[in-house]
Amino acid sequence: MDNRYFNPEFETMTRPQLQKLQLERLQNTVRHCMNSPFYKKRFEENGLTPDSIKSLDDLKKIPFTTKQDLRDTYPFGMASVPLDKCVRLHSSSGTTGKPTVILHTQRDLDQWANAVARCLWMVGLRPDDVFQNSSGYGMFTGGLGFQYGAEKLGMLTVPAAAGNTLRQLKFIKDFGTTALHAIPSYAARLFEVMQEQGVDPRRDTKLKTLVIGAEPHSEETRRRIEDMLGVKAYNSFGMSEMCGPGVAFECPEQNGLHIWEDYYIVEIVDPETLEPVPDGEVGEMVLTTINREAMPLLRYRTRDLTRILPGECPCGRHHMRLDRMQGRSDDMIILKGVNIFPIQIEQVLMSFQELSSDYLITLETLSDNDAMTVEVELKQIATDDYSLLSNLTKAITSRLRDEILVTPRVVLLPKGSLPQSEGKAVRVNDLRKKF
Ligand code: COA
Ligand code: AMP
Ligand code: ZN
Repeated sequence: MDNRYFNPEFETMTRPQLQKLQLERLQNTVRHCMNSPFYKKRFEENGLTPDSIKSLDDLKKIPFTTKQDLRDTYPFGMASVPLDKCVRLHSSSGTTGKPTVILHTQRDLDQWANAVARCLWMVGLRPDDVFQNSSGYGMFTGGLGFQYGAEKLGMLTVPAAAGNTLRQLKFIKDFGTTALHAIPSYAARLFEVMQEQGVDPRRDTKLKTLVIGAEPHSEETRRRIEDMLGVKAYNSFGMSEMCGPGVAFECPEQNGLHIWEDYYIVEIVDPETLEPVPDGEVGEMVLTTINREAMPLLRYRTRDLTRILPGECPCGRHHMRLDRMQGRSDDMIILKGVNIFPIQIEQVLMSFQELSSDYLITLETLSDNDAMTVEVELKQIATDDYSLLSNLTKAITSRLRDEILVTPRVVLLPKGSLPQSEGKAVRVNDLRKKF
């Protein structure tokens, strides 16, 4: 057996083999989706039946599924299996108080762990590696997703979770961590703390591999992380709606992210017209799950902008390669690995009767730590009641933290202080360090 592959049968399929498998799995998925009240109705409304899907091209007959659909069917209206067959759910932030819910059967979790293990194996990790995960656990899929994948591969796995960088560093040294999953901005924070502690990552740690993802980053950022920590850093793409991590991942060639086409069918569309873009052009990625049981999604609009890279990869995998993500076609912010919609912040602010409707969100990097400041105008011209202002600031901060899962700095301003912009108000000012 070729030691480069975790699932040689699937990883080395030729394109015709992959397409044959995709059609079989798509047809099965569509048939299975008729158990979901949502898809059954969608198909009926559009005059479709499972028999309408005779070729991969017929996928285009199916309407898109959107995040709004997930909210409208909250919490379980998309399920294609009875709830008693589901063993876990994950949930991510929503824009109107309704988060999105993704359900999993045991089979889904096993397949997800397999996909993550396949990615980690692909970049050279083996059972004698020690894998540390600095993702948040709980609802963040980067936590349990990498945990089960790394365990499936057979590595000693350290579920360090997010935060507490000193402890994180102690684990890296004491447990001989060789591979770390961290979001790119947190890798920079970790290096800063190493420097403060006089730790030389090359001399004092066994780190050799970083898995970085969850937020857009440039090639320069990757190279800087590699130089700082003396590691190879591989881009990892995932999203909760598609399971979590393990959707697309770089191979040792570091020339784009292989998306696992035995799990997903990829389309790239113009976010305005929703028509396919010409080959190789950037557009919004639309994904169809073809290996999911509890809650398959057909033609899901990810809102992530990318393109399919042309040509073959020397690694022997024919699964297509995505360019690194180039942004979003909506206004979602990713801060510290947490997805935030500005409307969530607006809704919290507007629930305080002392506040006016003028606010500004500033994102910046302070001491290699990403941070958010929310400036908001008071309704009244000015007040010098310090304790009133202080209590109000605390209350707003606490409500915001509950809603967006990061702690912003809240600044209350007298009415009329924020610059007035012509036309549509500028609500988000992103000054984060991009290196
Ligand atoms: N991963 C790991 N640790 C992180 C982090 C991240 N993405 N972002 C910040 N931290 C660390 C900070 O460095 C700080 O530790 P330190 O002071 O010892 O260095 C600690 O977490 C608290 O950060 P702070 O910015 O003060 O807190 P917050 O209340 O604004 O944010 C977090 C709280 C970090 C817990 C929250 O942002 C989180 O859970 N992030 C992780 C999200 C995630 O895992 N996403 C999925 C990736 S696939
Ligand atoms: P979540 O559902 O919380 O896992 O967040 C998924 C979103 O995070 C994706 O839709 C992307 O916008 C973003 N994301 C995940 N991985 C990457 C990556 N490698 N590069 C850029 N953005 C990413
Ligand atoms: Zn490759």
